[in-house]
Amino acid sequence: MDDLRDKYLGQVTAAGDEAALEQVRLAAIGKKGEVALKMRELGRMTPEERQQVGPRLNALKDEIASAIAARKAALEDAALDERLRTEWLDVTLPVRARRHGTIHPVSQVTEEVTAIFADMGFAVAEGPQIETDWYNFDALNIPGHHPARAEMDTFYLARAEGDARPPHVLRTHTSPVQIRSMETTGAPTRVICPGRVYRADYDQTHTPMFHQVEGMAIDRDISMANLKWCLEEFCRAFFELDGIELRFRASHFPFTEPSAEVDIRCSWEGGTLKLGEGDDWLEILGSGMIHPHVLRSGGIDPDEWQGFAFGMGIDRIAMLKYGIPDLRAFFDSDLRWLKHYGFGALAAPTRHAG
Ligand code: PHE
Repeated sequence: MDDLRDKYLGQVTAAGDEAALEQVRLAAIGKKGEVALKMRELGRMTPEERQQVGPRLNALKDEIASAIAARKAALEDAALDERLRTEWLDVTLPVRARRHGTIHPVSQVTEEVTAIFADMGFAVAEGPQIETDWYNFDALNIPGHHPARAEMDTFYLARAEGDARPPHVLRTHTSPVQIRSMETTGAPTRVICPGRVYRADYDQTHTPMFHQVEGMAIDRDISMANLKWCLEEFCRAFFELDGIELRFRASHFPFTEPSAEVDIRCSWEGGTLKLGEGDDWLEILGSGMIHPHVLRSGGIDPDEWQGFAFGMGIDRIAMLKYGIPDLRAFFDSDLRWLKHYGFGALAAPTRHAG
């Protein structure tokens, strides 16, 4: 019995992990273990012998079992210590000066624009990028035969064969969100609608996908004067230039009457663009008073309400503000470009948050 005891207690101490320990347990006090076999021999003993040997065997079994339990706890502690030793974190290290990711200029400028218009009381509205031709065209006073449909280089989505309904389109501008906003909020209303738009066009200043921000204000007596003030105020804040000068040039859009394209005074002297000075003008947006047909499409009574709308290229004003020469590079995902033109995570304005 003493031999058994020495043998198994020795093996318990030597077991290096839980699997080895389990082997020892089975060999010693498992159903077919050595102690169990000894217990079976009790039947062949005299009652006197049995009274002597039985309790000693039971005590041996208990002793081995508690040695195993103690060893198991020690192994678990050691494993935990090992994890704590390897999985540590030095919270006193300084934060990384520059993260690898940057905020894309389009995201940055969208935030800047949103913040400025939020200060003027404009909420943000969004609409789908896949539109019906009703929202993208008809509701905006562009009927089926209108040349503006052809001019926009629209992407049409194919319908299933035999489906005679007009095809969906990738929205060619953010103006359909005007209609959707009128439908949901009614009048009075003041929203801007930033988002992606699509036209089949590709060169240094055009990509098939780009970004616009629509603006719309409807009330009982909104006028062109309010439009002018808003846009001048916006440009001054956005380009961070008090001396900014805008030119409202009579133009035509089916969805506004009267309409104006807006140019910003600039100079190209020495081959570099400077805003706010010089004798050149650079077009930055389209605008006008919302056409009565358009108000009516959005469920708003044009005899009671009127408003202005404008549409501006986000990528375009990003290029102007940050001196980025080629629009196509915006969407190339070139890491060197993103590092150079991207913004730090904390640079985005957040005063409109909440
Ligand atoms: N939707 C016009 C465009 O994409 C811009 C615009 C919007 C003009 C609102 C007037 C009013 O060119």
